[in-house]
Amino acid sequence: MSRTMNIFGLETSCDETSAAVVADGRRVLSNIVASQADLHARWGGVVPEVASRKHVELTLPVIHEALDSAGVTWNEIDGIAVTNRPGLVGALLVGVSAAKALAYSLKKPIVGVHHLEGHLYANFLADSTLDFPFLCLIVSGGHTEILALRGHGERESLGQTRDDAAGECFDKCARLLGLPYPGGPNVDRLAQNGDPKRVSFPRAWLGDSLDFSFSGLKTAVRNFVAQDGEKTPVEDVAASLQMAIVEVLVKKTVQAAQRTGMDTIALGGGVAANSGLKTAMQTACDFEGLRLVIPPPDLCTDNAAMIAAAGHHRLIQGQSDPLSFDTFAMEPLSSNSK
Ligand code: KG4
Ligand code: ZN
Repeated sequence: MSRTMNIFGLETSCDETSAAVVADGRRVLSNIVASQADLHARWGGVVPEVASRKHVELTLPVIHEALDSAGVTWNEIDGIAVTNRPGLVGALLVGVSAAKALAYSLKKPIVGVHHLEGHLYANFLADSTLDFPFLCLIVSGGHTEILALRGHGERESLGQTRDDAAGECFDKCARLLGLPYPGGPNVDRLAQNGDPKRVSFPRAWLGDSLDFSFSGLKTAVRNFVAQDGEKTPVEDVAASLQMAIVEVLVKKTVQAAQRTGMDTIALGGGVAANSGLKTAMQTACDFEGLRLVIPPPDLCTDNAAMIAAAGHHRLIQGQSDPLSFDTFAMEPLSSNSK
C-alpha cells in the first residue's frame, strides 16, 4: 500500500487566517481558523489593510498550531498548497509569502490554489465516497455559480450571478435591517423564528437561464424597510428574505441536475452553511431522488483544509508552481483548469 500523502494548506484570501493538514486529499488532520470577523464588525465589512496586518500577526501561530494538532512534523509533509487567487491581494500576499518561505526552506513542492476550487474540494473532505461526475453550487460572499464537474480540472459553468453574489445579498440586506456584520449568519439565526411567507420579496428567475440576479432583491428590501418602518418583526423579514434567496438557489440547481442528468449535488462556500438552504435543498433532492453532499459549516466558510484538498489533486499530478508564482485579485474558476 502506498504511503499517506500529507498536504499543508494555507488560506488568507479575506478575513480568515487558516492553516491545515490534509491526508490523501480526503482526511482532515487539522484545520485551524483564526477569524477576524469581530475586528471588522465595527466598520460593517472587511477593511483590506486591517485584514493584511492581522494576517501578518496570525499566520505563524496558526501554522504552528496546525502542524502541532495534526501531530505531524515538517518531514511528514509532502507538499504545500496556498490560496493565490482570487481575493484581497494584500491579504493573499501574506499567506503566499509564508507558504513560499516554507516551500523554499523545506524543499517541498508548492501549488497556488484558486479559492473557489477549494470550496469545491471541501466536498471530498465531507464525503469520502464522493466521486465525479457531480454538480456543485458555490455560494459565497463573492461568488454564486453552478458548476458541472466531470473530473479533476474538467468543469463547466452552467450559470452564475449577473450582479451580486448570494452572500453579498445576505450581508447587504442584513445591513439594511440593522443587523451586525457578518450579516448572513445573523439573518439565518433570526429567520429560524420568523414567518417566511410574511413578506413577498421578488425572485429573479431570468427565464430558462441558470444565471442568478440578486440586486433587485436588495432594492426590494431597501424599499420595504423604508416603507415599513419597524412594524414587521425583523424575524419575519429575515425569514422572507432568506426564503427569496434560497428558493432560487434550490430551483436552479435542481434544474441543472435535470438538464445534465447528473444525480449528485454538492454545495460549497459560506452560504452553504445556511440552515434554510440546507433544509430546502435536502427536501428538493429527496423529492427528485438526487444525492446531496453538504460540507459541515466549518468546511463551508473559508478554511485551509479545503485548499489543501484541492492542492493535493494538483500536486499528485505534478502540477507544482515555480516560487515566482503571483497573486490575483480576480480570476474566474471555470477558465482555470490547468
Ligand atoms: O466562503 P466564505 O466564507 O467567504 C468567501 O469566499 O466569500 O463566505 C462568506 C459569506 C458571507 O457573505 C457570509 O455572510 C455568508 O457567507 N454566510 C452565510 C452563513 N454563514 C456564512 N450566509 C447565510 N447563512 C449563513 N449561515
Ligand atoms: Zn470563500
